[in-house]
Amino acid sequence: MKNSIRDSYQAKLVSATLAVQQIRDGDFIIVPTGVGEPPELLTALSEQRQRFHDVKIAQILALRKYGYLDPATAHHVRHVALFYGPATRPGGQAGWVDFIPNYFSEIPRQIQEGQIGADVVLSMASTMDEHGYFALSLGTDYTMAAVAKARSIILEVNPNVPFTHGECHVHISQVSALVESSGPILEVGLPVIGPVQSAIGKYVAEMIPDGATLQIGYGAIPDAVVIQLTEKHDLGVHTEMIGDGILALVESGAVTNRRKNFHPGKMLATFALGSQKLYRFMHQNPQLEMHPVNYTNDPVIAGKNDHLMTINASLQIDLLGQCGSESLGLQPYSGTGGQSDFVRAANISRGGKSFIVLPSTAKNDTISRIVPALTSGTHVSTSKNDVNYVVTEFGVAQLRGKSYRQRAEELISVAHPDFRAELRASLNRL
Ligand code: COA
Repeated sequence: MKNSIRDSYQAKLVSATLAVQQIRDGDFIIVPTGVGEPPELLTALSEQRQRFHDVKIAQILALRKYGYLDPATAHHVRHVALFYGPATRPGGQAGWVDFIPNYFSEIPRQIQEGQIGADVVLSMASTMDEHGYFALSLGTDYTMAAVAKARSIILEVNPNVPFTHGECHVHISQVSALVESSGPILEVGLPVIGPVQSAIGKYVAEMIPDGATLQIGYGAIPDAVVIQLTEKHDLGVHTEMIGDGILALVESGAVTNRRKNFHPGKMLATFALGSQKLYRFMHQNPQLEMHPVNYTNDPVIAGKNDHLMTINASLQIDLLGQCGSESLGLQPYSGTGGQSDFVRAANISRGGKSFIVLPSTAKNDTISRIVPALTSGTHVSTSKNDVNYVVTEFGVAQLRGKSYRQRAEELISVAHPDFRAELRASLNRL
């Protein structure tokens, strides 16, 4: 390593307490998705939050409940969610966490155009390589767009962060301050998969051909699909989130990426969420590239993959096919994330299929998730014009090209039998 690079690193290395002093009143701070959030920096900012006025922190999927997530100090530092997770959902529902609706693929553009501010970036990063580059491998997402725009780029360098290939690198000359940490990267386990999730996974797995390219969404059912694909051959990956499910497919030999027509031989993703084993697998692995989300999730770009199979979860669907995947009535639950991006990508892909997966009921079979009309106030995540395959534990409904009446009949055929008569009775309203 050149002395100038090493000197520059040393000159920028400070304590977390000092690093967050680069933040100014009124700043908009960008933090990457999930495990890319930097714990030392966000803890230091939380401790000093009363010093600041009108600072905003924008993030998709915040995982940890830092001190600044506090209604009493939200006028000092306020969270702006781009997708609610467990740490931010209560604040969103109570009104002291804000929310900016978005397609995940478009957040970088909104940052570039100044619709979403980006004065400061706080991010986890790998250790620096001999050329002076760090990898933002855990959350490449919209953070690369913010790096291009921000006044201050403050990295938390941790040797447990994988150094990955792709378009995820930041040079020491772009960095304003560095802190070092050494704790393990936060692990997020696979969700519990019950018989309903397994039944849905089986239907989807039967429709995925050898050689297909996969996008696997967030939630229990996408994971239930993944574990049923281990006997497939030559699958590829072009996804938003890389997790342990995909790692299991690589280990079983089902994923080879050899038949991909777009980025053959490579898996593409924009953020990681999983175990230490996953993070180690990502390190210096030439079969994986981490790219900004405006590349992985752009429907036209992702749709260049032939036979793209996209699997995403929903909370409720009406008989037109409108997917309410992110709220329960007016009550916000999550966000659109990449769902709509990838449904549209599958529609563009030659031989592509999008699957919206959901159990037929909620709350011990007392509520049908297939409904004549979405519960009043429900936020529509995926349009009726885009949705295609809808899968419950009772089978597969295919909607594209079908009339309102035909769609309703398809959806009723996969509803829970206890609710079918009621749903049929609503048909004369279509
Ligand atoms: N009425 C009432 N309650 C309902 C309901 C309905 N129609 N549908 C779901 N619920 C409840 C469930 O019972 C569950 O409650 P519990 O936690 O008390 O058991 C809760 O809402 C969550 O439902 P579940 O089906 O378990 O959700 P999930 O964990 O599989 O997650 C989301 C689903 C949130 C990931 C998904 O809907 C989402 O956000 N999709 C959009 C984003 C996306 O797809 N991104 C893809 C790229 S990463």
